[in-house]
Formats: sequence, structure tokens, C-alpha cells
Amino acid sequence: MAAAAGALLGLGRLWRLLLFLSQFCVLSGGETTEIPPYVTKCPSNGLCSRLPADCIDCATNFSCVYGKPATFDCAVKPSVTCVDRELRAQESFVINMTCRFCWQLPETDYECTSSTSCMAVSCPRQRYAANCTVRDHIHCLGNRTFPKMLYCNWTGGYKWSTALAL
Ligand SMILES: *[C@@H]1O[C@H](CO)[C@@H](O)[C@H](O)[C@H]1NC(C)=O
Ligand SMILES: *[C@@H]1O[C@H](CO)[C@@H](O)[C@H](O)[C@H]1NC(C)=O
Ligand SMILES: *[C@@H]1O[C@H](CO)[C@@H](O)[C@H](O)[C@H]1NC(C)=O
Ligand SMILES: *[C@@H]1O[C@H](CO)[C@@H](O)[C@H](O)[C@H]1NC(C)=O
Ligand SMILES: *[C@@H]1O[C@H](CO)[C@@H](O)[C@H](O)[C@H]1NC(C)=O
Repeated sequence: MAAAAGALLGLGRLWRLLLFLSQFCVLSGGETTEIPPYVTKCPSNGLCSRLPADCIDCATNFSCVYGKPATFDCAVKPSVTCVDRELRAQESFVINMTCRFCWQLPETDYECTSSTSCMAVSCPRQRYAANCTVRDHIHCLGNRTFPKMLYCNWTGGYKWSTALAL
């Protein structure tokens, strides 16, 4: 049992290493003919404005005011196809988005890693450094993965605040 689990864990690591290396190849412009890793996340021929953020490249809107709606000129990444409301294929298009950084989004718009090392009840409540990643369909400015200090999970982790709100 333990050996099998170990082997699975090893496979998982290998897979992540391969994913990492494949991304590296694309970034470094290697002559790979592989399908870019984001393509599996990008539905074909759907509405451009609904594409996950990983599928598009958008130009910065420098007149973007925090908390206000702004329009961004975006283009699909290579191997991604999408259409406008009249079902015409588009390569560049405009998206509407609230002007804010990813780390400023409401908690429901991202998912954070949990900690396995801080289940202990302690006072003051212990915190840990989580990495939070924005959900695919949410658009925001800056790094889509960001660190955040979260309370340890002895009452349901960071859902503590949610529990209070309910
Ligand atoms: C930035 O957003 C504003 C507000 O939507 C818009 O009027 C303006 O044209 C946009 N600028 C660019 C360069 O996209
Ligand atoms: C963006 O917002 C403007 C004004 O609110 C609207 O006319 C336009 O259709 C919207 N575009 C998209 C792609 O949602
Ligand atoms: C909190 O703990 C429960 C049970 O141990 C676990 O299922 C859940 O994923 C944890 N949540 C966070 C945010 O760490
Ligand atoms: C978050 O990411 C950093 C660097 O990528 C890593 O060192 C750290 O262990 C991660 N933390 C968690 C809780 O996954
Ligand atoms: C985005 O955040 C991740 C994890 O925190 C970090 O490894 C990466 O270098 C950051 N990327 C940029 C462009 O800042």
C-alpha cells in the first residue's frame, strides 16, 4: 500500500516537473511543436469575452482607475479561437473588467492552498503563508497567483470569516 502510494506521489512529481519543463520550452521559444499548456483550458469557438484569462493577452489600460470599470484590448494566444456575439471569428477584441489587482478581489474569486502543518489550536490564532490563485474566468491586473497570510484551520480555516458572515 505504502509503496504504491509512494510510487503515485513520485509520478505526480514527475508529471509536475514535465509540465514545468514544457512551459519553460514555450517561454524560451524552443522549436517545440507541442500544443501550449494553456490550450487545454481554452474552449474552442466560444465567446471571446468568456475565455479564461490564461487564453488571452491583454494590453494594460493606463487610464484604469481603481474600482472603476475599464475596457482592455485583448488578443487570443496562439492556437486559441473564439467568436463575437454574431459568431464571427475574432483575434482581437475588447473586454470589460473592473480595474483592480488580483489580490484585491473578493475571496470567492480565488482559491488558496491549505496548510498541513498548522492544525494546532493556539492563541493568538496561528497563521500560515498560503498561495492563492484566481479562478480561470475572473479577469484582474497583475500576478494571478499571490501569497496571503491565512488563519490556521481549526474552525474551518479561512472559511472562519465566511462562517461569521453567515
Ligand atoms: C481604458 O478604459 C476606459 C474606460 O472603459 C476607456 O474609455 C478607454 O478607451 C480605455 N483605454 C484603452 C487604451 O483601452
Ligand atoms: C462592455 O460594456 C459596454 C458598456 O457598458 C457595453 O456596451 C459592451 O457591450 C460591453 N462589452 C462586453 C464584451 O461585455
Ligand atoms: C480545513 O480542514 C479540513 C479537514 O481537516 C479540510 O478538509 C479543509 O480542506 C481545510 N481547509 C483549509 C482552508 O485548510
Ligand atoms: C507558496 O509558494 C512559495 C513559492 O512559490 C513556496 O515557497 C511556498 O511553500 C508556497 N506555500 C504554500 C503554502 O504552498
Ligand atoms: C507571480 O507569483 C509567483 C508566486 O508568488 C511568482 O513565482 C512569480 O515570479 C510571480 N510572477 C510575476 C510576473 O511577478
